[in-house]
Amino acid sequence: MIILGIETSCDETSAALINDNTILANIISTQKIHEHYGGVVPEFASRAHMTHLVPIVREAFAEAKLTFADIDGLAVTYGPGLAGSLLVGICFCKGLAINLKKPFIGINHIEGHILAVNAQALPVEYPAICLVASGGHTILVYIKEPTKYKIIGRTIDDAAGEAFDKTAKILGLGYPGGPAIEKMAKLGNENAINFPRALMDHDNFDFSFSGLKTSVLYYVESLRKNNKNIVVTDICSSFQKAVIDVLVEKSLRALKKFNCTTLILAGGVASNSSLRERFRELCTKKHVNFFVPAPELCTDNAAMIAKAGLIRLKKGEYSDFTLDTIPNLSLNNSIN
Ligand code: KG4
Ligand code: ZN
Repeated sequence: MIILGIETSCDETSAALINDNTILANIISTQKIHEHYGGVVPEFASRAHMTHLVPIVREAFAEAKLTFADIDGLAVTYGPGLAGSLLVGICFCKGLAINLKKPFIGINHIEGHILAVNAQALPVEYPAICLVASGGHTILVYIKEPTKYKIIGRTIDDAAGEAFDKTAKILGLGYPGGPAIEKMAKLGNENAINFPRALMDHDNFDFSFSGLKTSVLYYVESLRKNNKNIVVTDICSSFQKAVIDVLVEKSLRALKKFNCTTLILAGGVASNSSLRERFRELCTKKHVNFFVPAPELCTDNAAMIAKAGLIRLKKGEYSDFTLDTIPNLSLNNSIN
């Protein structure tokens, strides 16, 4: 089955073509305009999707050496995300589906992240625990099997990626913050500053990252006030370790509680190499099967949306043409 996937929920315009277990093309265009503003500006994002989407779809077909007539169906993100940005993708998909007389299906963006490992055809065994850590979400999910999910923990304030972005802003490192902090962290001492690890002693699977970011802010402000040297590399390294410690601890606890031996990482933060290494080492030690997508499949991309669509279309599910965007769509609201 050949599926065209479309992803326009935030600031990546992406189109992918997959054939069952093979990614034939996965074109991702990251909108640069937002860098000037230190975060995503919704109006600019939807306008950029409007201009980029058709050329990117054409590029995907050229790379896959396919024509529109070759596809069996279309999959598009319908939430969560920015309303205007989601609309661009959905309207395009509906128009194309009508024209081609092919089924289309709306996909929950979070489900896309969860199934990115499947897009790579990794041999995942279920049930599994999945940590989704992105710019908008940080959740722990129990996966009975693909399409059957239960959220068991979530951030009560900022998402992990948001903490990276806000901390980078405090340190003047630009947007997006994750890659910039990771780069600086490699040059610093992770034990230099003892930043807080919130909710570690709470017997649940929830996270909190807003206090950590505030703690970095107060630390930097106090150094500035006292005319002391600000060692950005040490701050980045210590901050990153604090985030990773919490994500690791809660994920391992969830594995134990739910009696699972498979752990999956997903979302933009999962492209962080220190985080991947820490999880890999610990999982090896604890005989847990560990799966993480290639870095370019952790951040937003359409291959993961195409894969989720393929799995659901194969089950006979599809959307009708009244499908609307749901900007605050939660995983439990996805089509089951
Ligand atoms: O999954 P994603 O591309 O978009 C959302 O669905 O939110 O995640 C983007 C988030 C941003 O907050 C970005 O700073 C973070 O993922 N991120 C990283 C890294 N690369 C991206 N965080 C830590 N380390 C990275 N290397
Ligand atoms: Zn995402």
